[in-house]
Amino acid sequence: MFRLLRKSRPEKQAWERDKLPRHIAIIMDGNGRWAKQRALPRKAGHAAGAETFRRIATYCKDIGIEYLTVYAFSTENWKRPAEEVGTIMALLEKYLHEAIEKMERDKVKMKFFGDVSVLSPKLRKLIEETEVLSQKFEGVQVNICVNYGGRDEILRAVERYTKDLSDSALPKPKRLTEEVFSEYMYSAHVPDPDLIIRPSGEMRISNFLLWQSAYSELYFTDVLWPDFDEAELNRAIMSFQARDRRYGGVGK
Ligand code: IPE
Ligand code: IPE
Ligand code: MG
Repeated sequence: MFRLLRKSRPEKQAWERDKLPRHIAIIMDGNGRWAKQRALPRKAGHAAGAETFRRIATYCKDIGIEYLTVYAFSTENWKRPAEEVGTIMALLEKYLHEAIEKMERDKVKMKFFGDVSVLSPKLRKLIEETEVLSQKFEGVQVNICVNYGGRDEILRAVERYTKDLSDSALPKPKRLTEEVFSEYMYSAHVPDPDLIIRPSGEMRISNFLLWQSAYSELYFTDVLWPDFDEAELNRAIMSFQARDRRYGGVGK
């Protein structure tokens, strides 16, 4: 009932265009509960969640968000039944086929964060193709986190940095600073997220962007990801714009 009421009176876009977050990151959570509420199999929730992702990515592009990073599959999600993992991977495959097909129309630069080396050869090929083909686009970048874990990302960055240090064939890497270390992350060259959104009522980070979220504004909502829409994103942006980001200083 509440949802019906809310849907029939969508909130107006009331945020300020010149204070939009440059980078929004989303933990796309709640697909399973959405399906359960409707007595549907969990896979129906994931399919609905994939639709929401398409919709929100388009909206972010339309309003001028520069970077959108979405958490699609974590390093911990392998604990789920093989059938569910298979469903998620199949949806990703379907999405990538479509993204490649519509690339010249959509003009979205796409990147993948996570260890994709363990994914199926078919999926890896699609991921590579998507990244290579979309490299030329400027304006909006969508980062999809697959087999991504914040801790895993930090460990890999340490490994890569120390490898560069000991490789005599390479110029010695710069002294380790936060900026240098950031370049060893999957998110190299991407500014830290300004706003991290987690739907579904859970108030935790679940191993998402641990390094990059140091000063991100967090926004939680009870809405389940498949129900998340443009009005919800508007609300999150308005909440973001009302925050005083002090970065440890004394503020305005
Ligand atoms: C998010 O939805 C999708 C993934 C983690 C892959 P969930 O499947 O976690 O949905 P809930 O949390 O069980 O509702
Ligand atoms: C986080 O959601 C991962 C993704 C959305 C991909 P989970 O559903 O896996 O997180 P927990 O288990 O509730 O912490
Ligand atoms: Mg979940």
